[in-house]
Amino acid sequence: MTLQSSQYVLITGATSGIGHELAKVFAAHNYNLVIVARSASDLAVVARELSQQYGIEVIAIEKDLFNVQSPFELHKEVLSRGIKIDILVNNAGQGVYGKFVDTDLRAELDIIQLNVNAYVVLTKLFLRDMVNNQGGKILNVASIAGKVPGPFQSVYHGTKAFVHSFTEAIRAELADTNITITSLLPGPTNTDFFNKAKMQDSKILEHHLADAATVAADGFNALMKGDDMMISGLKNKAQVAMSNITPDRKVARQMLDQQEPKAAD
Ligand SMILES: NC(=O)c1ccc[n+]([C@@H]2O[C@H](COP(=O)([O-])OP(=O)(O)OC[C@H]3O[C@@H](n4cnc5c(N)ncnc54)[C@H](OP(=O)(O)O)[C@@H]3O)[C@@H](O)[C@H]2O)c1
Repeated sequence: MTLQSSQYVLITGATSGIGHELAKVFAAHNYNLVIVARSASDLAVVARELSQQYGIEVIAIEKDLFNVQSPFELHKEVLSRGIKIDILVNNAGQGVYGKFVDTDLRAELDIIQLNVNAYVVLTKLFLRDMVNNQGGKILNVASIAGKVPGPFQSVYHGTKAFVHSFTEAIRAELADTNITITSLLPGPTNTDFFNKAKMQDSKILEHHLADAATVAADGFNALMKGDDMMISGLKNKAQVAMSNITPDRKVARQMLDQQEPKAAD
């Protein structure tokens, strides 16, 4: 007989890529899950997969976090079901690819809502509950993109810089509590992210892409240790270290060369 866990982890974007791999890691460690995404059918598949394989409870909540009210509704729905969230994972995020002068402003405002506003609302509401419960953990999925200016992804890189800075700041405020908050900084990872961002032509895809399961394991371990941040992968750690000692304008130029569209054949 397996021991039934009473702890719940809420993961946004748990149906694909890094979020899905994080859901598997938590399930394998016997946590119950609240999984969130837009596609009801994908949620049903993942809920069935994880509950059958690991014998945990999986609650699927369909939400489009592009909508301003959705994070508030999500918190309310979790509370109305009488669930206490022990770990919050803000993971759902998207990018928009292209020169800023040409890209669709509406799409960029949507990703600011998803990558920034939803993280802020969910962190605030669930953190207040964690303070009342005197414990909890939060994992915010940022990116090494947040450490460098990103031509052809200027808004996306800006959102990830926000997530990382926001996470480190709150962490300092929480120093005397039983609550930790951790920032996960993956590098380019093999997920559906690049399709959603319409980045198939970017030179970035000529580079090695990390495995989402490895990124998730790194994030899980850092969260459990209560670390402030985790840059996943040796090459990414080296890249961030180099960019820290290089003038921003030079880093931006290097990133432009890395992310620009491949030359047409
Ligand atoms: N892949 C990379 O190279 C990379 C590198 C660094 C950081 N990251 C970050 O890692 C996180 C996960 O990305 P990923 O690469 O795993 O991407 P992914 O494979 O495209 O997965 C994204 C997940 O988020 C959900 N999602 C997307 N838009 C949503 C919305 N509006 N409302 C609710 N859920 C939404 C998706 O489900 P639905 O489409 O059904 O909603 C899916 O479950 C993001 O924050 C991303 O910025 C990715």
